[in-house]
Amino acid sequence: MIIMNISKQANRLATVISAAALLTAISSQASAASTTDVASAEKAEAIAGVKAALAPLKAQPAVQVSLNGQTYPALAPLGPVPVPPDNPLTAEKVELGKILFFDGRLGGDGSTACSACHVPDIGWDWPDNVSLGYPGTIHWRNSQTIINTAYYGKLFWAGSSKSLEAQARSAAKGGVAGNGEDDLMEARLALIPEYRQRFNAVFGDDWPKISNAWMAIAAYERTLIQRDTPLDQFLQGDKSALAESQLRGKALFDGKAGCIQCHNGPLASDQQYYNVGVPPLKRWEEDPMAQITFRYELYAKGSNEKMYRNTKADPGVYFRGKMKAMKGKFRTPSLRYTKYTPPYMHNGALATLADVVDFYDRGGIASDGRSTDFPHSKSPLIKPLGLSKTEKADLLAFLDAFSGDKILTERPAMPGYAPLFTEQELLEARK
Ligand code: HEC
Ligand code: HEC
Repeated sequence: MIIMNISKQANRLATVISAAALLTAISSQASAASTTDVASAEKAEAIAGVKAALAPLKAQPAVQVSLNGQTYPALAPLGPVPVPPDNPLTAEKVELGKILFFDGRLGGDGSTACSACHVPDIGWDWPDNVSLGYPGTIHWRNSQTIINTAYYGKLFWAGSSKSLEAQARSAAKGGVAGNGEDDLMEARLALIPEYRQRFNAVFGDDWPKISNAWMAIAAYERTLIQRDTPLDQFLQGDKSALAESQLRGKALFDGKAGCIQCHNGPLASDQQYYNVGVPPLKRWEEDPMAQITFRYELYAKGSNEKMYRNTKADPGVYFRGKMKAMKGKFRTPSLRYTKYTPPYMHNGALATLADVVDFYDRGGIASDGRSTDFPHSKSPLIKPLGLSKTEKADLLAFLDAFSGDKILTERPAMPGYAPLFTEQELLEARK
């Protein structure tokens, strides 16, 4: 009985797969003329990406900024991307990782590729307060940009993932993100000849291993970096790279406005956790779908009954050790590439960078007077700054220097499914 069911399923799968193969065959015929051009463009992009990621930086003196009796690492140019020894960066791996990043088959129903919520044309993130979610849900946090994530030692707003490899896996499997299952995703890869060939060439896999998919995606992400912003140019000696108002903004950043206390070093992030006062998301009170996702996350992360029923704001890092002092704290994000990633903060509560500057100027209070739901853990470093109108404009102008040009890319062609065996081979096997 069970066996019959399986073979019935297998038949159905084979029908679906051959239909898919037929469609792919038709579409690949149509585009056959330009395939080689596209292939060499993809290869060139991967090679250039690896080169740019690994290019050494001229030795930089270690500079400190002193403020209120403390010293902080000064903003600095971004160096070569760190690469873990067990996942060396090669052009072939990056090329494969790029295709996988855009492939919805790494996920539940095929609709949520990484690129669905990290849209290259719009900042490599999702342009809403909380992100698009797996169909039937919305996400509960703001989607972050992929650009420069290779430099973080901890990923996600609450720093819950330690590497891009681990992060890709949890993104593809997470219930409100990719919602994929390992065995199904691996089975899909096995039915795609181009992936079989590429995984074999890159990792030596006989059959594509799902764990290697995360390795390849992580390698691709290590080429999604930006090291030539006006700020980088300025810090490497091109004194004309910043305008007058940006220079004044930098002095505020390092001084009166105190941003350097947390947004410091090459990444403009100390990767520590703070509650800066971001108010809860109104949408959680008004949008039933957002409310459901939020409750689901509270439940899934092990909240007790009281918290599950009463919490109105994202407790952030609290979930990772259940320490009360961590409620409402999030990892300091980089300020790089933020020009292209509105809205801001873990729940997208602030619409523009000008709103962010006003928010800090008020001492971590939004324009409607609301602040964090967890006042006891709010950072004492966040207090009213008393910035003048010109000072705010200067600081805003300086924030612009953390971003260079938009990083764009061509979507790769998706390789098609093909049946593992010909009809003839199946007939032979039955004999
Ligand atoms: C359904 C939407 C969605 C999909 C699909 C998705 N992500 Fe994300 N991604 C997000 C959101 C939202 C966050 C922030 C979540 C959090 O911090 O809890 C995030 C965070 C990240 C981060 C951390 C960035 C940082 O600054 O720490 C990386 C890296 C990332 N995603 C990569 C991926 C990769 C790789 C895939 C595909 C395997 C993927 N994402 C699929 C929505 C999505
Ligand atoms: C006490 C540490 C701290 C200080 C000081 C600080 N920040 Fe932040 N910053 C953070 C943290 C933590 C977040 C994320 C908060 C959240 O989402 O709840 C953040 C978020 C941001 C964001 C949003 C980034 C994004 O991707 O959404 C911007 C922009 C920003 N800060 C700019 C500034 C500026 C400008 C200053 C100085 C006026 C400043 N910060 C001072 C810690 C700090």
